[in-house]
Amino acid sequence: MADFSAKLKAPVYVCLLTYGCQMNILDSQILSGNLARQGFVVTEDETAADVVLFITCSVRDLAERKVLGKAGKLNVKRNRRPEVVLGVTGCMAELKGETLLGGKNVFDFVAGTHKRHLIPELILRALCKRVAESEVTSVNAEALERLGIALAPYMDECLPAERKLFAVGRDEAEDSLDELEAMRPRPWQAFVEIMRGCSNFCSYCVVPYARGPEVSRPADEILAELKTLASSGCVEVTLLGQNVNSYGKDLPKGSISFPELLAEAAKIEGLKWLRFVTSNPQDISDELIDLMASEPKICRYLHFPLQSGSNRILKMMNRKYSLEQYLEKVAKLKSAMPDLWLAGDLIVGFPGETLEDFQATLAAVERIDYANNFLFKYSERPGTAASKLPDDVPLEEKKRRHAELMALQGKLTHEHLKSLVGTTQTVLVEGHSKRNRAVLQGRTTHFANVVFEGDPSLIGKFVSVKMESATPLTLYGSFERLPGDEELTNEKESG
Ligand code: SAH
Ligand code: SF4
Ligand code: F3S
Repeated sequence: MADFSAKLKAPVYVCLLTYGCQMNILDSQILSGNLARQGFVVTEDETAADVVLFITCSVRDLAERKVLGKAGKLNVKRNRRPEVVLGVTGCMAELKGETLLGGKNVFDFVAGTHKRHLIPELILRALCKRVAESEVTSVNAEALERLGIALAPYMDECLPAERKLFAVGRDEAEDSLDELEAMRPRPWQAFVEIMRGCSNFCSYCVVPYARGPEVSRPADEILAELKTLASSGCVEVTLLGQNVNSYGKDLPKGSISFPELLAEAAKIEGLKWLRFVTSNPQDISDELIDLMASEPKICRYLHFPLQSGSNRILKMMNRKYSLEQYLEKVAKLKSAMPDLWLAGDLIVGFPGETLEDFQATLAAVERIDYANNFLFKYSERPGTAASKLPDDVPLEEKKRRHAELMALQGKLTHEHLKSLVGTTQTVLVEGHSKRNRAVLQGRTTHFANVVFEGDPSLIGKFVSVKMESATPLTLYGSFERLPGDEELTNEKESG
């Protein structure tokens, strides 16, 4: 792979705008690290950037429209700075490919989900082109001069028109960016990808098309990364995959399973809290449930998406479990871990969803007593199996069902938070509260959001917080003390 760091003789500012799931957040961190190593300056200030890179999501129509809207706005600003490059990567880039270039489109380059490693080169090609074509004005003179210095060594190589500005699809030149390069804004917390892609083809979902088939990372590579992270002060790790329960099934015989991987991860000194997403109900094993119950480092929060409470709809969604099978797994989980908090995903308004189907979803939510749910209105995605079915629940009705579920889930979430009032919980402090910079924000093992007064030096540390009150989404507490090492794992209650 080309390394530009030796040659970039003036700063080139790149701003990454990230949409979608944790995979994209991690991709954004990896790309930031890679770009920084190659001599680019990563900035959060989009107005100061020479390059804005969109890391996109296609899971719902709205996710795509957000990106296109934002890119359109930035494009207008190019009246003043025509040399600025707008690039696109992530799931929408993979799915729409070259159609995002030319015509009315505003993007200068497209890099698919398997082509992250080509992004630095694509940036330079697009930037050389823009800079060469931009007129100098009083507004951009300084930037053009700076970019001229940075790009001088590349102009001859990058400018020819045949130089491609898009790369999508999978081929032998697979991307193998180093996750250890990731720029993690909170070094005590890390996302670690254990598998890429998905082979499940739920009928509504674009992810298998956008990310390719399921490919597990070799366990030794993951464990080595975890050890390196732990030795540099990381205490909480979230293992990422579209379906972590099928980890390893694509690896050669004799490779370890997800629970085995998790058990190995738990042995790593320094790592205190382990989380993972997403756990597909279809193949959660008893072995995993037993391990979660016996391994104190594994947090008491499980993302376990149901999608619908109606068996008829689950079948049409190509989810490979029935409500009864799901409830059976939940019963096992709760009997092994009475203090486990469950979260889910639900889609309302899937094609053909009747009021009766929707009632079944409401009843399931109430019965399962989720701590949290991510609720979505069905969005038809081109190319998926469900797109062949009529999208026949009117938008107004989808909105109504969504609001009804929100209200129910809101009540359940509030009840969960209230149940912790009066207890003392171990909290990993994440930073200042977004709403009020004067107070700190952190999370419990249940992923409950906690706000309390404390010294900023506590950021990145575990603290014991006494919970005093609960609003619908947040617990308010007071700092008690720094917990002993033995208290870090699992919830500790006192009082
Ligand atoms: N791999 C995860 C889900 C990843 S996508 C799993 O299987 O659980 C995140 C969530 O987006 C899904 O769980 C689903 O609830 C929602 N989703 C996916 N496609 C959607 C669509 N076409 N319309 C609405 N919601 C969708
Ligand atoms: Fe999409 Fe289903 Fe794969 Fe999840 S398991 S990413 S919902 S296809
Ligand atoms: Fe979106 Fe792609 Fe994630 S479609 S949800 S960013 S895998």
